[in-house]
Amino acid sequence: MNYKLHKTVITSDFLKLISKEIKRQGVYVLRLTRKNLRQIASVHRDILKQGLPKHIVRKKLPRGLGYGLFLHPKAKPLLKGEIIGSYAGEAILVPQNLTDDALYAFEPFCDVVLAKEQQALFDKKRAFHPRRLYAFQIDALKKGNFTRFINHSSKPNLVADFYRIPKNSYGLTPSPLEIVFKVEKTIHPGEQLLFDYDGDGADTYWSALDIAPIPITPTTFRLSNSLRLIGHL
Ligand SMILES: C[S@@+](CC[C@H](N)C(=O)[O-])C[C@H]1O[C@@H](n2cnc3c(N)ncnc32)[C@H](O)[C@@H]1O
Repeated sequence: MNYKLHKTVITSDFLKLISKEIKRQGVYVLRLTRKNLRQIASVHRDILKQGLPKHIVRKKLPRGLGYGLFLHPKAKPLLKGEIIGSYAGEAILVPQNLTDDALYAFEPFCDVVLAKEQQALFDKKRAFHPRRLYAFQIDALKKGNFTRFINHSSKPNLVADFYRIPKNSYGLTPSPLEIVFKVEKTIHPGEQLLFDYDGDGADTYWSALDIAPIPITPTTFRLSNSLRLIGHL
């Protein structure tokens, strides 16, 4: 597994900007329980060690779907509320009119206005424009972890929400905003882990690509005890 990033690549200046924007825009950021923090820390260790938590299997799928993630057929079912892991990638600020082809990017919020010196810091390639609006994205195209392989379904078993990582004793770096995948519906052994890319109701991911997603559910494909892919469309 090439993708072994346990936390997002972000500078301290960038973190300060994000904290300010969360307050200014009133972005809804949830609190994690101690148990959740412990679980996230444990997944971080798995990512650093072997890329994937032991109960998750990555498998190539047909029909151009690329890879997908499955609960190991010999694992215990995952129940609502359990942590799968946190999304990680490169934190970037992208001009809002150029965000359409971001296949591996989460966009927690947009409408960020940058002063001249901030544009020079966060958008080195472009000349200053006072009215340019930016979107904040976490992009796992080049750097990320196993969660970048979670495929889309309109009947998902996962949700992704924004959480704050407070100061803690579990070795997690505090963060004003972390994207965390949690189980929404019981996942049985061998089923695929899926979430709704347009679950926020914005309907932007697939319309920007101008294609319809393949209608898969957690049981469209399954893994046999010998880790063979079964099922078809
Ligand atoms: C975040 S990636 C998911 C992991 C991807 N399968 C891979 O191997 O890298 C998103 C991409 O996966 C594919 N994908 C995910 N769910 C899909 C679906 N339901 N129908 C068609 N393509 C899907 C699309 O190419 C999409 O742009």
